[in-house]
Amino acid sequence: MAKDVIIALDFAGAEQALAFLDKFEGVARKPFVKIGMELFYAAGSELVREIKARGHKIFLDLKLHDIPNTVGKAMAVLSGLDVDMCNLHAAGGSVMMRAALEGLTRADGSRPLLIAVTQLTSTSEQLMREELLIDRPIDETVMLYAENAARSGLDGVVCSPLEAGKVHSACGENFLTVTPGIRFADSAKGDQVRVTTPADARSLGSDYIVVGRPVTAAADPVAAYARCVKDFLGEEI
Ligand code: C5P
Repeated sequence: MAKDVIIALDFAGAEQALAFLDKFEGVARKPFVKIGMELFYAAGSELVREIKARGHKIFLDLKLHDIPNTVGKAMAVLSGLDVDMCNLHAAGGSVMMRAALEGLTRADGSRPLLIAVTQLTSTSEQLMREELLIDRPIDETVMLYAENAARSGLDGVVCSPLEAGKVHSACGENFLTVTPGIRFADSAKGDQVRVTTPADARSLGSDYIVVGRPVTAAADPVAAYARCVKDFLGEEI
């Protein structure tokens, strides 16, 4: 199964994102990159096409959540951009998830991977109880949402590397775990609380690690990316 390192392009606009990617010119391995809401809303489809044309795989992290018809149609548009991975909120329910898969599937039967967000890491049990009227422990809701996603035919979930084993046991070894919260043992944690090194993420069974600032804010981003690839995949770039 394909495992990879995904660099989170958390930049405010196209100029910064492309200037960052320019540093990888001449590197044989084109990094898989994640484009989130900030960059997509600022730079849109044009930037997605430009980054694809430069040979990168793209995880478009827009976390869709709407009625099934709307999500299905929106996913069809994203699939037309030829991205490699998309996501949505499992909280939208199984009908929405299945509509998303249908929308993503291209005429030739191919489609980007579809990953579910379970509970956001910013959601606490207190918020669930007081604002959403969900009384169950957060771990239980995370696992139920992951199982719903798997039953709906999705390819995986975003989770912590620390949860990767549990997700694989519940949803199958082939169900992908896409895991942020990655830090080198010697780098700053920033606002991340529970962090894992690329090597630990590998032993915990993560399929994709999502790495932002340890690469984007490094003095030498190419070297930092190379270190992630070496530690997580055991390969040179
Ligand atoms: O800079 P850093 O490595 O913390 O970036 C992690 C990336 O993964 C960011 O784009 C962040 O939004 C995303 N992410 C996360 N935690 C989640 C879900 C997504 O850090 N639970």
